[in-house]
Amino acid sequence: MYSGLSICRYLHTTVHSLRHISPNNMKGKGSSSTKWLTRQLNDPYVEKAKMFNYRCRSAFKLIEIDDSQSIFTPGDVVIDCGAAPGSWTQVAVKRVNADLALPNKPVGMVVAVDIQQMHSVPGAIMFGNCDLLSKDAQDKVQNALHGKQANVIISDMAPSATGIKEMDDENMLRLCYTAFRFAVLVSKVDAFLLVKMWQSGFTSKLQKDMERFYDKVKIMKPNSSRSDSAEIFLLAKHFKGLKSS
Ligand SMILES: C[S@@+](CC[C@H](N)C(=O)[O-])C[C@H]1O[C@@H](n2cnc3c(N)ncnc32)[C@H](O)[C@@H]1O
Repeated sequence: MYSGLSICRYLHTTVHSLRHISPNNMKGKGSSSTKWLTRQLNDPYVEKAKMFNYRCRSAFKLIEIDDSQSIFTPGDVVIDCGAAPGSWTQVAVKRVNADLALPNKPVGMVVAVDIQQMHSVPGAIMFGNCDLLSKDAQDKVQNALHGKQANVIISDMAPSATGIKEMDDENMLRLCYTAFRFAVLVSKVDAFLLVKMWQSGFTSKLQKDMERFYDKVKIMKPNSSRSDSAEIFLLAKHFKGLKSS
């Protein structure tokens, strides 16, 4: 049921989406700042994120993916890699009931990690200033699981862009493989892995490598992912487990 306030906000968003807004006071600012601000002001997901108190618009990418693929179940253990500012963490906490909001459902656990500092998300265990490329950070996350295995690993990690495409693609790929390798180490049989990457010549290699460990790997581009962005998401389903030798 919608409250009066949310209907008001919805109408505001709808009206907002019918007109194009240009920023004021951009004198002296570069054209890329003007372009960025214009895009933010006209992006319905930015408005919607404010309305639902998500820390950023990325929340809707995960919501769309989960709504169509059912990756989360109440009671799941989730690791959120590259979590700052925390909108995926907010979504995961709700969907696995890590905040105990659903009294009759199993209680899940969300461990969020980022190289940057983060504000806490109620219901999640947060590790800020943690570089997931390092073994120390991976150990820290694994210790926080207290012997449990993960049901879902999500990675929205992205490197700071250098502007040199080859270097950026390589850095991105390193983060993808780090999340993938870490997932293989900490996942329960049947687990899911969702990894963001920038579409490049490496996509099919990563997909093939994932297929060795998961039953199926689906490439996804949610509607809320900007069409001019090269980002795509690889969703690996049903971890096969590691053979003990
Ligand atoms: C697109 S943002 C994530 C947004 C987040 N999913 C959300 O919804 O709020 C990408 C994040 O990856 C993080 N990141 C990049 N390299 C990392 C690394 N080596 N270890 C951990 N986090 C990293 C960045 O600091 C950044 O916060």
